[in-house]
Amino acid sequence: MDTNSTPVPEQPGVQPEAVGAKKKRRNRKVKRTLAGAFALTVGLTGAGVLATALTPDAQVATAQRDDQALIQEGNDIYDVACITCHGANLQGVEDRGPSLIGVGAGSVYFQVHSGRMPMMSNDAQAERKTPRYTEQQTLALAAYVAANGGGPDIVYNEDGSIAMEELRGSNYNGQIQSEDVARGGELFRMNCASCHNFTGKGGSLSSGKYAPPLGPANEQEIYQAMLTGPQNMPKFSDRQLSADEKKDLIAYIKSASETPSPAGWGLGGLGPVAEGLAMWIIGITALCAAAMWMGSRS
Ligand code: HEC
Ligand code: HEC
Repeated sequence: MDTNSTPVPEQPGVQPEAVGAKKKRRNRKVKRTLAGAFALTVGLTGAGVLATALTPDAQVATAQRDDQALIQEGNDIYDVACITCHGANLQGVEDRGPSLIGVGAGSVYFQVHSGRMPMMSNDAQAERKTPRYTEQQTLALAAYVAANGGGPDIVYNEDGSIAMEELRGSNYNGQIQSEDVARGGELFRMNCASCHNFTGKGGSLSSGKYAPPLGPANEQEIYQAMLTGPQNMPKFSDRQLSADEKKDLIAYIKSASETPSPAGWGLGGLGPVAEGLAMWIIGITALCAAAMWMGSRS
């Protein structure tokens, strides 16, 4: 682009006659105009490419489970932070950590996003804490573990983003429906209250273990807790509780505990930022192209 938009250097001394000089000037002008047009085209094409790369769709693509780069990123984090307890081939290490083969992306999401993993010491129970990894790194770890043997997956929306409020009831339409809450409350009393208490405030179990309060968990974490059964919690496969029943349970838990959640960072919140950035780059590039265009004509 540089070489093409640089004005053609003058050749002093050639063709001193007036007619030749005039012809040359006209030639130069045409060349400059062409260079300007070329710069504008390249600029706009570049902006288009950048915009495509930065729009949420592209992010969704990077979040896709089979993305080789994502798996590699997960592998790198795993080798630093998880390998001592879960083993070089995810086979587990005696007295340190269980095998992760076949636990699935959903289990990794639950454990890492709730801050339980990486575990610090040999505590009786992995505790919820501030997550160490970003959303993207969590997805990378999940992709790596899933690539080494399936298991329950993260629940995605149709557009590829991670399902969140969409899990608030089987009839959720931007708002929690009261019939979903009623059904969810019934299911909660039958399946969860024995450990988590009737209001989801948690309760202690035997030998120093406890069922934690459910307020801090986000929708996807609650869903994955049911699907993967962390520690002393039983698994609730889709045969025991259908996907719709799980959603109704979430509607109940969320409406019972709805306070602004300090632990929940907004997921997919990168969208507007990326969009803004893309618009900014398109705008600036267009301005630069316009300036070059005008400059080349004067
Ligand atoms: C200090 C040891 C330790 C480290 C480090 C550690 N884990 Fe764990 N991990 C454990 C133990 C122990 C359990 C079982 C916890 C329980 O049952 O409460 C576990 C459980 C898990 C589970 C649940 C498995 C299942 O059956 O569903 C996942 C997933 C997991 N770890 C992922 C990770 C990842 C990813 C990392 C690195 C970011 C990591 N762990 C780092 C000790 C560790
Ligand atoms: C047998 C007792 C038991 C039952 C029944 C049970 N849970 Fe749990 N639950 C636990 C324990 C123990 C943990 C903590 C696991 C850990 O920290 O690794 C837990 C953790 C959770 C978490 C994670 C909370 C957090 O802060 O990260 C959620 C969400 C959850 N349970 C939801 C449910 C739902 C919904 C049901 C009913 C469908 C249910 N549980 C049934 C024992 C139980």
